[in-house]
Amino acid sequence: MKIEVIETSQKKTKPEWDQNLGFGKYFTDHMFTMDWTEKDGWCNAKIEPYGPMVLDPASLVLHYAQETFEGMKAYKTKDGRVLLFRPEMNARRFANSNRRLCMPVMSEEMFIEAVASVVEHEKDWIPTAEGTSLYIRPFMFATEASVGVHPSSKYKFVIVLSPVAAYYPEGVSPVKIYVEDEYVRATKGGTGFTKCGGNYAASIAAQVKAQELGYTQVLWLDGVERKYVEEVGTMNVMFKIDGKIITAPCDGTVLPGVTRDSIIHLLKHWGYEVEERHLAIDDLMQAGRAGKLEEAFGTGTAAVISPVGELNYKGEITVINDFKTGELTQKLYDTLTGIQWGDLDDPFGWTYEVK
Ligand code: COI
Repeated sequence: MKIEVIETSQKKTKPEWDQNLGFGKYFTDHMFTMDWTEKDGWCNAKIEPYGPMVLDPASLVLHYAQETFEGMKAYKTKDGRVLLFRPEMNARRFANSNRRLCMPVMSEEMFIEAVASVVEHEKDWIPTAEGTSLYIRPFMFATEASVGVHPSSKYKFVIVLSPVAAYYPEGVSPVKIYVEDEYVRATKGGTGFTKCGGNYAASIAAQVKAQELGYTQVLWLDGVERKYVEEVGTMNVMFKIDGKIITAPCDGTVLPGVTRDSIIHLLKHWGYEVEERHLAIDDLMQAGRAGKLEEAFGTGTAAVISPVGELNYKGEITVINDFKTGELTQKLYDTLTGIQWGDLDDPFGWTYEVK
């Protein structure tokens, strides 16, 4: 792909590379942009100064939310190499999201080339303090000016980059989760398996409610019976019950997380029994009461591995592992991040070096 590079004339002052980076507060000097039109297909690939974009007020995305995105990270190893983690998985999921939203699909190679080129250009922005990385946000949206409901004839694809620390203010300490039994996130046939902005817009009311009650995130139940656990607001979730790990299956309503898939691989590799199945919230709470709910943790690119210390379902509270990070949760965090930061061997070939 031919990528035009336009250098910024005003480089920003970089923030301190420490935990105060928070998540998604700072953006690098440049971004990647590319257009898609019915006539030309993908065109105008550029690395250009980060900044506001001009948008027609009638752009379809602003009215009917034809928008999809991805979340990835770049890591700098101690010997200065730049690594991505399983970028082909993001490329495939992005394509699946775009198919569902009737948006143009790009090849895996093109997606990875776009990501790698802008990460390479901005590599001085990859923070190096422990637990920090460069968050990569590729996204696409409908730009045709129209207020009729139909697939857009034009789209913009953009990648912005943000140096980040932990997603949750708790860092890698346990979070409190509110089990949401009123609002729903997804039902079969909908967009639950995609990464589209609309899914998150619809989730904010539940998140606000949970936060007002003192909880960090919500645990979604299935949209039909409100009976089975699905995922947490910004991550997939796994439970260790009686030695086995249980997580919801990806059968249409759950986001197929790259971290989720990697953790399932690691657990199986270590000999754990992993069940991808529907788990009733009543059975989960019963396991908590019976002392069999040994650990719970979320998995996600932004959240990494995030221990869950407490669940509140209809006012009943289950505290997990005395609100401490479980042994297995910690081992998964250490192994996954060890591979991602290039500190441990990568037996599965998950890392991708940007050169
Ligand atoms: C991610 O984990 O990359 C996400 O996209 C979750 C989120 C911050 C919405």
